[in-house]
Amino acid sequence: MQSNVTNGIHVAIIMDGNGRWAEGRGLPRIAGHRAGVTTARRVVEHALTTCIRRLTLYAFSSDNWRRPPAEVQSIFWLLRAFLRLETERMRQRGVRLRFIGRRDRLAPMVLKAMESAERATAQSSRLLVCVAIDYSSRQAIEQAALNATDDAKACETPSSNSVRSKLLGAITAETEDVDLLIRTGGEKRLSDFLLWESAYAELLFTDQMWPDFDEADLDEALREFSRRQRRYGGLSAVASNPVSAA
Ligand code: FPP
Repeated sequence: MQSNVTNGIHVAIIMDGNGRWAEGRGLPRIAGHRAGVTTARRVVEHALTTCIRRLTLYAFSSDNWRRPPAEVQSIFWLLRAFLRLETERMRQRGVRLRFIGRRDRLAPMVLKAMESAERATAQSSRLLVCVAIDYSSRQAIEQAALNATDDAKACETPSSNSVRSKLLGAITAETEDVDLLIRTGGEKRLSDFLLWESAYAELLFTDQMWPDFDEADLDEALREFSRRQRRYGGLSAVASNPVSAA
């Protein structure tokens, strides 16, 4: 399920480096997360002016529960504040908000804010912003495999297509291959993020901390993407990369 490039590309971002950004300035880590939210807002705004049609942001991994409760609480507090302040503006700009990841471990107030943002922006279609919360790609794939197994048991001869669509559909509501995956913060790993969807993603790692990432950096990342040759295991580059190196 490669993206239809004429309809724009799917960019996924691991927003890493908030804590180090803050510590480097003698600030508490939460100040880094606050600055990280500001960057997320600017990146979404800027994405609207580019070829990006789907943007998936890794805000909280299932492993992030291991952090001190105070830090976890402040991340969710920031998320709720972001949704309270930005949802209406996003709707007006044509941004649809969706969330991927587990919902059963979230505080009711957080879940309510997420569902309300999803409802409020459901009709928007200019840019889809998926925020990954309590997300683990391995868990999503395991769950999908279990669902597909149940399906296969219920039906004696499931077509491989139906099992596959079940598998894909269960990973996220509307799973889609990632075209470009960006990770800030200097680490070069995927940290259990969109493993299935990134099978043929172009990977871009930058040393910049997330709060320092700006519009020009996103443009540069898109230019770098436009220079990559995508062959999907074949011999010739798959035509058309919609990114103009403007
Ligand atoms: C990684 O930096 C960042 C996080 C775990 C949280 C990211 C969350 C936000 C930016 C806020 C929510 C986002 C939206 C879309 C409103 P880190 O703390 O791991 O940094 P470090 O590696 O320097 O410690």
